[in-house]
Amino acid sequence: MSLRGKKIVLAITGSIAAYKAAFLTRLLVKAGAEVQVLMTPDAEKFISPLTLATLSKRKVISGLVDAEQWSNHVALGLWADLILVAPATANTLAKFATGLCDNIVTAVYLSAKCPVFFAPAMDLDMWQHPATQHNIQRLISFGNKLIPVAHGELASGLVGDGRMAEPEDIVKLLSTHFAEGNQFKGKTILVTAGPTYEPIDPVRFIGNYSSGKMGIALATELADRGALVKLILGPTRISAPVHPGIETFNVTTAREMHDQAVQLYPDCDVAILAAAVADYRPRHQAPEKIKKSSDAMSIELEKTPDIAASLGKMKRGNQLNIGFALETNNEEANAKEKLKKKNFDFIVLNSLRDSGAGFNHDTNKITILKKGNTQKKFKLKSKSEVAVDIINEIAGMLFPGKGKLS
Ligand code: C5P
Repeated sequence: MSLRGKKIVLAITGSIAAYKAAFLTRLLVKAGAEVQVLMTPDAEKFISPLTLATLSKRKVISGLVDAEQWSNHVALGLWADLILVAPATANTLAKFATGLCDNIVTAVYLSAKCPVFFAPAMDLDMWQHPATQHNIQRLISFGNKLIPVAHGELASGLVGDGRMAEPEDIVKLLSTHFAEGNQFKGKTILVTAGPTYEPIDPVRFIGNYSSGKMGIALATELADRGALVKLILGPTRISAPVHPGIETFNVTTAREMHDQAVQLYPDCDVAILAAAVADYRPRHQAPEKIKKSSDAMSIELEKTPDIAASLGKMKRGNQLNIGFALETNNEEANAKEKLKKKNFDFIVLNSLRDSGAGFNHDTNKITILKKGNTQKKFKLKSKSEVAVDIINEIAGMLFPGKGKLS
């Protein structure tokens, strides 16, 4: 477990779990990190800045302005390799989610370019409230990393979810994060995501409900682990991720997505085909808006190019192709057939019959089917957690013998 040379901002907010921040600081320093402690005004009511300054060997910053000087929150946000908010109260999470900036912790959060990990701590009912859960989902969608709460006795006397993760587990998680930061260094990975739109006339198209969330979660996790990601993104309402490791290519139609993929693929080590590509497109695109006339009308359709099949044919021995199968019936049989037909190394199956899985949800429930008929089933998880499972599977295939990082 090493954090040697890592610069960590530890932001402490006003929860009874703040007492654990002393142990946390001690463990981070012991693991080799440079730790700058920030405290909200309420955090100081739970633990003394003197304790944390002594343990971190640095002056604690607890105000945007103190008697002598203004704290440069922008510089602090840039200095850090990682920001750890522990404990993170419901109040601070709500401020992060809405961009409120009224203390040093929220100001540094808004200025930061580095990964942000947050370890919530609160009472069971506050944790379960839809507002808190909504804020957490919003932070995850910003690319912030949730350190899951633990189950157990809470300060109120209630028993349930809401305890801050143990300091030892947090430090372990951060050291894994830094180790994984280089895991995919030197690898180029193609990801297709989102729907495609096939024009009927200048104002209408054939499309589908894909949001692109799963592909974007995959691209972000891969880039966080050091990969260079070429993201080919169909027309989606969510914006492309801003990450130095992600290059985004915006496309509209299946043909455009296909041509872009074929061009990029030879320089890629892995292709993950998470896009919901239209299988058919109108044979002719009307040059002018089609007018309403007879009671019925038909549009003649023709097949679009199959990107996965094209890349499957181009695949060299050292490349991996991963596909997705979103099915409504005969799930396993259909997925197995696609695995073979498109020359995938594994296929990620999700069924529209599972609630919370598939299009537009923030969650997904998957089964990974591999060549040779092995399969792994996963429970319902957030799409960013599903991305971790899929990428761990790819890492196991790309770097055999290395196993899981710990
Ligand atoms: O649409 P279908 O269920 O066959 O999709 C299975 C897999 O093939 C997915 O990974 C999808 O991204 C990919 N696909 C593709 N090009 C198409 C159709 C599907 O790459 N034209």
